[in-house]
Amino acid sequence: MGDTEALVERARRIADDENRRLWERTPASKALFERAVRSMPMGVASSFQAWDPYPVYLREGRGAFVWDVDGHRYVDVHGGFGCMVVGHAHPKVVEAIERAARTGTHFAVTTEATVAFAEELCRRFSAERVRFANSGTEATMGAIRVARAATGRDHIVKIEGSYHGHHDPVMFSVVPNSDLMGGRDRPATTPMSLGIPAGTAAYTHVVPFNDLGALERLLEDQGHEIAGMILEPVMMNIGIVEPAPGYLQGAKDLLHRHGALLIFDEVKSGATIAPGGAVDRYGVVPDLACWAKAICGGTPGAAFGGRADVMEVIERGAAHQGTFNGNPLVVAAGLATLTEVLTGDAYEHLAKLGSRLAQGCRDAIAAHGIPAHVVDLGAKGCVSYRPEPMTNYRDFLETLPEVYLASYPWLLNRGVFMTPGDEEQWTLSVQHTETDVDRYVEAFGEFCAALARA
Ligand SMILES: Cc1ncc(COP(=O)(O)O)c(C=O)c1O
Repeated sequence: MGDTEALVERARRIADDENRRLWERTPASKALFERAVRSMPMGVASSFQAWDPYPVYLREGRGAFVWDVDGHRYVDVHGGFGCMVVGHAHPKVVEAIERAARTGTHFAVTTEATVAFAEELCRRFSAERVRFANSGTEATMGAIRVARAATGRDHIVKIEGSYHGHHDPVMFSVVPNSDLMGGRDRPATTPMSLGIPAGTAAYTHVVPFNDLGALERLLEDQGHEIAGMILEPVMMNIGIVEPAPGYLQGAKDLLHRHGALLIFDEVKSGATIAPGGAVDRYGVVPDLACWAKAICGGTPGAAFGGRADVMEVIERGAAHQGTFNGNPLVVAAGLATLTEVLTGDAYEHLAKLGSRLAQGCRDAIAAHGIPAHVVDLGAKGCVSYRPEPMTNYRDFLETLPEVYLASYPWLLNRGVFMTPGDEEQWTLSVQHTETDVDRYVEAFGEFCAALARA
């Protein structure tokens, strides 16, 4: 048996033991699951929340911690899939929401606070105009509509292995099976869901991340039909993959040469990897960008925006609506989040904690010879089970899912609430402390030791 096969075998044994322990510790989650499946498919509100045989259901969160329905307390690094950079029940966010609740939770009329929030988003993310939405899905849907309307073109480009929400045009090649991926140069457009009209695929083209050659060839063939390319400037749904130096600017230049637009999906990276997201970190300003998750302090808000001359198409017939857009509760939470909580000091704190966590994981990986690497980007970071950093989705296919599947229950059983799924990453909050991070490092170190000797 080779080293990797032996490691995978040990990981499977650890996963079996740890899952058995987890199921013994979580009878209330099991009971809630059995109740929930009678009213919701898979017993959850969104398919991403499902887990086999049942998920751990939460009861509450405060500060850096969450409690499950069995009463176990965890250090939370799941962060509600990357939203909770403010931590749970942050006093400033709670106060802002309470104040808004007392003066009217909804008008479907723009308030002064909504204008102030729009101004703050423009300032932070170098945008000239923004519009609001209620989820990342709606934000990317709005940006694509605007890009199509502004260019008068129907086709879009997306990156293989990227998720941009669950609307039809972007539900292709999100996690394609290797036998359906097509060639490296020109990946196939593979649907991620049933229920997507087959004809939709004709309008979505797929290219690998960090590959300007593939983008250039596609644009040379079909550039005149392409409205724009949507991409996560740093990929965050296959672990974390950073853009190669020059890639983002190179993509922007190529797209512009063909009259197409660059759309950043900063749903995950915005306000987490730097105050101004990827624009701040990598210095490339896109034509349009989408934000959600961390910008609204754990309330369901989102936005998209960018160049005034592109967004202006909304004034000339490109539809963008939504009853709850700019809702007062969400705007109050968002304004408090961006102007009072996620300040310069907060990013210093997050960077320090993130580096401490990443270094702790690196040390454990090195000490026990685990084939893994660590990425550290502000509030976000991850361990991926492949020794070398990744450049695109096909590298992600070389990671070892069995090791992740062992680490997940291992961490849960030791009081660390991690995201279900090896495509995800940790999210730290301003309310986390060094002690919380050290708890993760200790549990992870024990995991690496067990994996090396089991
Ligand atoms: C990069 C990215 N874009 C868009 C979305 C969709 O956001 P939402 O789940 O709020 O619709 C997600 C969700 O995880 C995401 O990670």
